[in-house]
Amino acid sequence: MADHASLAGKRVLLVIAGGIAAYKSLELIRRLRERGVTVRAVLTEAGARFVTPLSVQALTEDTVYRDLWSLTDESEMGHIRLSREADLLVVAPATANLLARMAAGMADDLAATVLLATDKPVLVAPAMNVRMWQHAATQANMALLESRGVLRVGPNEGVMACNEYGPGRMAEPMEIVDAIAGFFAQASHRPLAGRRAIVTSGPTHEPIDPVRYIANRSSGKQGHAIAAALATLGAEVTLVSGPTRLPDPAGCRVTHIETAREMLAACEAALPADIAVCAAAVADWRVDGASDRKLKKDGGGPPALALTENPDILATLSRPGDRRPALVVGFAAETGDVLAYATAKRARKGCDWIVANDVSPGTGTFGGSDNTVHLIRADGVESWPTMAKDAVASRLAQAVAEHFTETLKAK
Ligand code: PMT
Repeated sequence: MADHASLAGKRVLLVIAGGIAAYKSLELIRRLRERGVTVRAVLTEAGARFVTPLSVQALTEDTVYRDLWSLTDESEMGHIRLSREADLLVVAPATANLLARMAAGMADDLAATVLLATDKPVLVAPAMNVRMWQHAATQANMALLESRGVLRVGPNEGVMACNEYGPGRMAEPMEIVDAIAGFFAQASHRPLAGRRAIVTSGPTHEPIDPVRYIANRSSGKQGHAIAAALATLGAEVTLVSGPTRLPDPAGCRVTHIETAREMLAACEAALPADIAVCAAAVADWRVDGASDRKLKKDGGGPPALALTENPDILATLSRPGDRRPALVVGFAAETGDVLAYATAKRARKGCDWIVANDVSPGTGTFGGSDNTVHLIRADGVESWPTMAKDAVASRLAQAVAEHFTETLKAK
C-alpha cells in the first residue's frame, strides 16, 4: 500500500458519472476524507440515478455541483473555479460515455465542461461493461487521453454487475486512494525543477521538390517519451519535433519543424538550457538546390539529385562555449557493432552521454514500442534490458536527475 502521508491537506474534485460503480465513490469520499483530503463533488445527471445527491453532500459536507446552467451553482462556484480550487480531478466512475466526451473535448454538461476547462491533472477510474471497455472506440479514447497526460487506475478484471467476466470493474476505493497518494508523492518529487531541457524527436523531411521529400522511419515515440519524462521530473522542456503522428506530450513546449536546418534553428532559439537530448533521426544529407516546382517525368530519364550535408545538431550543441548545455545526450542508431560505433560517435560529436540502440531490420526499434539500449558515459557502459520506450525514457530522465544531484553534491 502506498504511503498516504502526501494526502493530508490536498483538495480533490471528484466527478461521479453514471455507472453502477458510483456506489463505490461514496466509500472513496470517506477514505479520502479520513486521510485529510478535502473532497468536492460534481455529480452528472446519470450519476444521480445511481447515488443520491444527499448522500454525496453528507459525505463531502459540501454542496454537490450538478448543473452547468444553475445560477446558484455558478454564482457560488463557477465551473472554472471548481477546477482551479482543486489539486487533482478524479473521475470515478469514468464511464465510456464520459471518456468519449473528454477525448472529443465536449462541454455539454458541468462534468465535461470542468474537465475541458481544467489545467489540473486528471485521474480516471474507468468502469463499464467488458465489451464497452474492449471496444476499439473506448480503447482509442483512453489512449488519446493518456497521451495527453490523463492518469488512469484500473479497470480491474472480475465478475461484473451485468454478470459478464473480464476487465471493466472500477478499481476498489482503496486502490484509487493509493493511486491518488502515488500521484501526490511523485508530484512532489521534482528533482529537475528549475532546469531547462531541449529534446529533439522524430524524423526530418528534406524536400526534393514541393511535393516530395527524403525522410526516415522514426516515429518520434522515443523522443516524445523522453520529453514527457523530463517534464514529469520538473524540467522545463522544449521539444523540437519533426513530422510525426503523435500528439504533443503534456507539460512540454513543442516546436514543430520539418528540416534539419529548421531543427537546428529551433534548438538554438531554445538555448540556454541545462540539458539537451538529441533523439531525433536527423537526415544527414539534403538535396542541394531542391526544386521549387514539381519535377516532371518528361522522358529525359530520372533527375540527378545532388546531396549536400546537413548541419549536425548534436555536434553543434556539444561544442564547448558559454551556451553549451551542461549535459548533452546523443543517440546512436546502429545496425552492427553497436557499442564500438556508438562509443566512437560519442567522441566524434563531443556529447557527454550517448544512448546506443540497434536499429537493424527486425528489431522494430524504428517505429516500434520497445527499445534495447546501452547508456555510454565517460566512465563505462550500462546495458539495459529491452523495455517499452516510456520505461527507457523514465530511466534516462532519472539518470539525468541523479547526474545533477551528484554534480551539486560535488560542488
Ligand atoms: O522515433 P522512434 O521510432 O521512437 O525511434 C527512435 C530512434 C531509433 C529514432 C532513436 O532511438 C534514435 O536512435 N535516434 C537517433 C537516430 C539517428 O539519427 O542516429 P545517428 O546515429 O544517425 O545520429 C547520432 C546522433 O546525432 C543522434 O543523436 C542524432 O539525433 C544526431 N544527429 C544526427 C545527424 C544530424 N545531422 N544532426 C544530429 O543531431
